[in-house]
Amino acid sequence: MENQENEHVRRVRYKGTHPKSYKEKYKELQPEIYADDVAKIIQKGKTPAGMHISICVKEILEFLDIQPNQIGLDATLGFGGHTQEMLKCLKNEGHLYAIDVDKIELAKTRERLENLGFGSNILTIQQLNFANIDKVMSQGKKFNFVLADLGVSSMQIDNPERGFSFKYNGPLDLRLDPEGSITAADKLKELSYMEIKEMLINNSDEPYAEQIAHAIAKEKKEGIEITTTNQLSQIVSNALAFIPNNERKKAIKKSCQRTFQALRIEINNEYDALYGFLEKLPQMLAPNGRVAILTFHSGEDRLVKNSFKQFRNEGVYSEIARDVIRPSAEECYVNPRAHSAKMRWAIK
Ligand SMILES: C[S@@+](CC[C@H](N)C(=O)[O-])C[C@H]1O[C@@H](n2cnc3c(N)ncnc32)[C@H](O)[C@@H]1O
Repeated sequence: MENQENEHVRRVRYKGTHPKSYKEKYKELQPEIYADDVAKIIQKGKTPAGMHISICVKEILEFLDIQPNQIGLDATLGFGGHTQEMLKCLKNEGHLYAIDVDKIELAKTRERLENLGFGSNILTIQQLNFANIDKVMSQGKKFNFVLADLGVSSMQIDNPERGFSFKYNGPLDLRLDPEGSITAADKLKELSYMEIKEMLINNSDEPYAEQIAHAIAKEKKEGIEITTTNQLSQIVSNALAFIPNNERKKAIKKSCQRTFQALRIEINNEYDALYGFLEKLPQMLAPNGRVAILTFHSGEDRLVKNSFKQFRNEGVYSEIARDVIRPSAEECYVNPRAHSAKMRWAIK
């Protein structure tokens, strides 16, 4: 008789009571098997590894006012949370297009959404930069609603191999499209002191841009290649050694966040992509078409605000948001990553 006993698989070993590194979080990375554990983590105000909690869902759906039979675009698919909610509003009639530059996460999200029953009759997913919004559909077709939820997903931030976070050690990569551009490590090799300083100021309003750029340039001059996230955060930390003890830890954390953000914006050409998207958007919207955009830092918000205002003044948009809409205090409590989000909208 065949031995039908299942081979015993030992659980991943980690020190202490809770997993700390990304790889140890095997339960969070398999929500389909460990649904209860994952729900507990979300209740505690944390984002489980490998997941993204969608922001301002209620506010976005209220504004977009999606009706069955409409055609829409999710310009930043990510984990597919917003996509799923928008699909529910279509009630199986109409079509949703969803795009993302990130090939790695896109494949996982496609499978997840297919398993939930969202097939090609209702949903088309493509790997595409939203700067190419005019390439999503065949010519002449227009969108009734568009959503862009800018920046990075929690899956990207939390995976050390992608190099998006200074909190975990990993290669200094930071590419949204893993085949799209050069890595942040290679970009740093190319940039001069002046260019690094300008990048930190232009992309992140970094108050210590001069000191950080100087420290990076010094390492390079000594022939040291900056190839890991830990190396870069250590350089930022050393550059801020002059800050008084009681303020230093907080200042270093903020400067690390801004330095990584500035590099990410630089290598992924994020401002150019957003500008291209905003410029093409009006011609891709149907009459009365609605667009909602979520931003996460002042540079992005400024671009969106100015574009909406300009097209409103030119009579292209009939109405735009007067003020930004922010996630509720309850949402920020449950999902601290929502804190910096700002939503703006426009109607053609
Ligand atoms: C905040 S996440 C979106 C999360 C998603 N709304 C959800 O509910 O799961 C932002 C996503 O935008 C993608 N992205 C960033 N810039 C992009 C661009 N220029 N074109 C297309 N996708 C982009 C990122 O790869 C990331 O997956």
